[in-house]
Amino acid sequence: MEKVVLAFSGGLDTSVCIKLLEEKYDMEVITACVDVGQPREEIERPASVVNGLGSYKHFTIDAQEEFANDFIFKAIKANALYEGYPLSTALARPLIAMKIVELAQKEGASAIAHGCTGKGNDQFRFEAIIRSLSDCEVVAPIRELNLTRSEEVDYAKSCGIPLPSDKLYSIDENLWGRAIEGDILEDPLVEPPEDAFSWTNSSDDAPEEAQIVEMEFENGVPAAIDGKKMGALDIISECNRIAGLHGIGRVDIIEDRIIGLKSREIYETPGAFLILTAHKALEQIILTRSELKFAETVSSTYSELVYNGTWHDPLREDLDQLINHMQRRVTGTVKIKLHKGGMRIVGRTSPFSLYQQEVVSFEDKGMDQREMVGMVKNYALQAALYNKICKND
Ligand code: ARG
Repeated sequence: MEKVVLAFSGGLDTSVCIKLLEEKYDMEVITACVDVGQPREEIERPASVVNGLGSYKHFTIDAQEEFANDFIFKAIKANALYEGYPLSTALARPLIAMKIVELAQKEGASAIAHGCTGKGNDQFRFEAIIRSLSDCEVVAPIRELNLTRSEEVDYAKSCGIPLPSDKLYSIDENLWGRAIEGDILEDPLVEPPEDAFSWTNSSDDAPEEAQIVEMEFENGVPAAIDGKKMGALDIISECNRIAGLHGIGRVDIIEDRIIGLKSREIYETPGAFLILTAHKALEQIILTRSELKFAETVSSTYSELVYNGTWHDPLREDLDQLINHMQRRVTGTVKIKLHKGGMRIVGRTSPFSLYQQEVVSFEDKGMDQREMVGMVKNYALQAALYNKICKND
C-alpha cells in the first residue's frame, strides 16, 4: 500500500481526508500536525481526533521558533500586509509544507496529502513548496472529489468523524493571527457575531482604562515590551494578549484570492497590528524620505510573493537582503496608547533618528531662514511656466 503523509489540523476538511485517503485512494495514512503557534487545544485535538478514528501514526512537529524568527520577523521588517491582511495563514503554509516534506522523506512516503479545496489559496502555497522540495505525488481529496462543505459533513457523520462544532466556520490559527471564514460570514451583509472571535475583545468589552505600551525594536524587530526583553515567540504572544484585550486587530475585508475570487475574510491579528503600527512609526523617524517611499514598493511586492505562495522565489530572498540592510538602523522605542479598539502612537525615539528637534523647532536660529529665499523662488518652476505659457490655450 502506498504511504501518504497528510497535513492534519483536526478540522473538518482534514479529518474527512483521513477516511477518503483510505477508502477512495487505498493509501496508508500517516498524519502530522505542524505547530506554528496555534492554541494548545488545537495541537492536542488533532492527536485525539486521530486516536478516535483508528490506529494511525501521528506526529506533532514543533515549528514555533522557526515560524517566529524566520517567517514572522521577516514579515515585520517588510511591513507585510496584503489588502489589509497581515498574512498569518500565508506565512505559515510554506513552513508547514517544508516540515511535511521532511517527514514524508523520513517515513518513506511517496505521497503527500492536504485538505485544501479547489477555491482557496492554500492549495497553491502547499503544492508550490512540496513540488520544489520533493518528488512526492500530491493528493487533494476534497478538491479532487469536488466536495462541498455540507457533503463533507454528511460523509463525516457516516464514518463517525467528530464534527468540530455546530458552527461551520473554517478557522485557521497560528502565532501571527486567526482567520475565520465560511458559514454565515459568506454573506457580506452579515456582521460577524461575537462568537466568531476568540483572540480579541469587542471594543465594548475592552477595559475602560487606556494602557500605554512601550515597545523596543532592535534592527527592525521587537525586542522588549515595557522594558522586559523577550524572545520572538514570547513577544508576539504578549502583543497578541495585550492588543487583544483592548479590542485591537479585528479585520473584515473583501480579499482578492489568487484565482481571482473575491472572498469575505474575517481576521483577528492583534499582535500583528500592534507590532506593525509601532514598527512603521519608528521607521518614520529613522529612514529617509526616499527610503520610506521605496520601502512601500518593496513591502507591496514582498506581500504579494507571500500571499501568492511563492515564498521560495529568489526575489523574496533578494528583497530580504535589501530589507535587512535598511533595517539595521531601525532600533529604538515606541510608546503606543491602546484604548477600546483603537491605538495611537504617543512617543518614539531612536539613536538613529533623523528627526532633530533643535533644527525643526520654531525657536531655532541655527538654520538661517533667509537662505531659503532662492530655493523657494525657483520651486515648482515647470508648473509656473505651464500656468504662464499654456494655461489659456
Ligand atoms: N484568506 C486567507 C489566506 O488566504 C486565510 C485563509 C484561511 N484558511 C482557512 N481555512 N480558514 O491566507
